[in-house]
Amino acid sequence: MFDLTGLTTLKLPFHAASVLKLSSIENVCVSMPELGSAPRLILGGGSNLVVLEPEFDGVVLRPEIKCFEVTESGSDIFLEVGAGHQWHDIVMQTLERGWFGLENLALIPGWMGAAPVQNIGAYGVELKDHCYRVKLYDFEEEAVIELDASELKFGYRHSILKETPDRFLVLTVTLKLSTVPNPRVGYGAIADELEKQNLKSSDPRDIAKAVMSIRQSKLPDPADTPNVGSFFKNPVVRTDVAERLKAEFPDMPTYPDGAQTKIAAGWMIDHLGLKGHQVGGFSVHDRQALVLTNDGSGNANELRELVALIRSSVKATFGLSLAVEPTQLGQFNRT
Ligand code: EPU
Repeated sequence: MFDLTGLTTLKLPFHAASVLKLSSIENVCVSMPELGSAPRLILGGGSNLVVLEPEFDGVVLRPEIKCFEVTESGSDIFLEVGAGHQWHDIVMQTLERGWFGLENLALIPGWMGAAPVQNIGAYGVELKDHCYRVKLYDFEEEAVIELDASELKFGYRHSILKETPDRFLVLTVTLKLSTVPNPRVGYGAIADELEKQNLKSSDPRDIAKAVMSIRQSKLPDPADTPNVGSFFKNPVVRTDVAERLKAEFPDMPTYPDGAQTKIAAGWMIDHLGLKGHQVGGFSVHDRQALVLTNDGSGNANELRELVALIRSSVKATFGLSLAVEPTQLGQFNRT
């Protein structure tokens, strides 16, 4: 077995029977049909994966494809990038070249290939706003296919790729960017941070700086403190349900969007006094209650216990169920 614990940012013990590095599309086309029916797991940056079973009796695929192809059309930039790039490196490279769009998504950990799977998002922008097309390996057809953004069924932390995790492997993502800035500074803390640092709200590079400062002040760096970012999704409920909750809890942050309203799960966990709560090596982060951290000694059962406590407390007080956000290998509830 190969020890892959260090390749996931939550650092739960993880061993796999085999590991296959995929460095090019040609490499994928040749080696995938040979896998047969062996269980597969795609592992990029490992920053959104919770490993609850320490041994995986299958093959871990590492898509390390690194292409970077640009097509310009007037002020539009179409950038096709390989799944193996670090997401944040691409954000920085595009901003340096004066190609705008990804500034609010600075400092998100992980690799490019994972970005469309869960439609990464932060500070009022989601990947879907800048994803033009993806190139995929289709395990069912044993062929490379392309899907336009409209075919990916993007939603809040959701896409068709998340719905059918065994069917596709992301090879490249084509981003649609622009040489014309389109600053989006409406999300809570951004405007304040720009002002505080005397930065320009019209300059996407300044917006990226503000976003990085906010993230660094609230979110633990996975390189120092094992975590997978937000551990739960913000629940989306009918707006009338949210209004009833808001009447009872006037400080509760809610984000209405027509008939549906998103509710800040971090606020609910914080309101319950769970910030800093610890079970063995796992804790609720003391600056962002939606993030759970591992001090390096945590095991899967401790995490299960902490998750169960958070979910049952939120359910008891607010009547809402929290869904785990990252991909999981193994189950939280063992029957
Ligand atoms: N809040 C608290 N206490 C907390 C945490 C949050 O009161 O401990 C309040 C905040 O003050 C704010 C509201 O809850 O009024 C929302 O908090 P925040 O802006 O920090 O965002 P979030 O909803 O907790 C989501 C994403 C993050 C993303 C931020 C910023 C999800 C699951 N998470 O978090 O994404 O960075 O918005 O856009 O949607 C990730 O997916 O891993 C991630 C970090």
